[in-house]
Amino acid sequence: MKTFSRLVLGAALLSAGMAFAEGEATDPTVQARQALMKTVGMNTKILGDMAGGKAAFDAAGAEAAKAALAAAAADIAAKFEPQATDPATEAKPEIWTNWDDFVAKADALKVAAEALDASSLDSVKAGMGAIGGSCKACHSVYRM
Ligand code: HEC
Repeated sequence: MKTFSRLVLGAALLSAGMAFAEGEATDPTVQARQALMKTVGMNTKILGDMAGGKAAFDAAGAEAAKAALAAAAADIAAKFEPQATDPATEAKPEIWTNWDDFVAKADALKVAAEALDASSLDSVKAGMGAIGGSCKACHSVYRM
């Protein structure tokens, strides 16, 4: 389980790191959705670092990251709904032609974040696979 979570999460964070390749977006709508995704990434990293032993487990910190992640996931649909574009975006146009599926994938992240039990290191580890899997399920289809 631990290895699995690390692999899934590692892959998600690795592909996340490539976002800066094309420079910074200037369109405000694109900036806002990328900022939301950075929040998603940061909070996932907090949980992932604890799960992977890179950071000491701290139940209050894990609970805060979980709550922030679930709240950010709940905001994905609103932030992506306007079909704005920018030379630096990594959002694929298929988001808006498959909108219901995109929203379902955002909901899947929210469900996975809410389901994570932040009270112990083992339960955080157990919850990371579903979270990492939901990043990958969306990025593999809707992110360049
Ligand atoms: C419902 C789809 C969806 C889900 C779920 C999702 N992402 Fe994203 N993510 C995107 C899209 C689309 C982009 C590209 C946005 C753009 O460039 O306009 C993106 C971009 C990012 C970026 C780059 C932000 C930047 O600096 O431009 C990071 C980091 C990121 N996602 C992390 C994550 C992590 C970690 C998860 C899981 C916990 C996750 N995402 C879940 C769709 C999603």
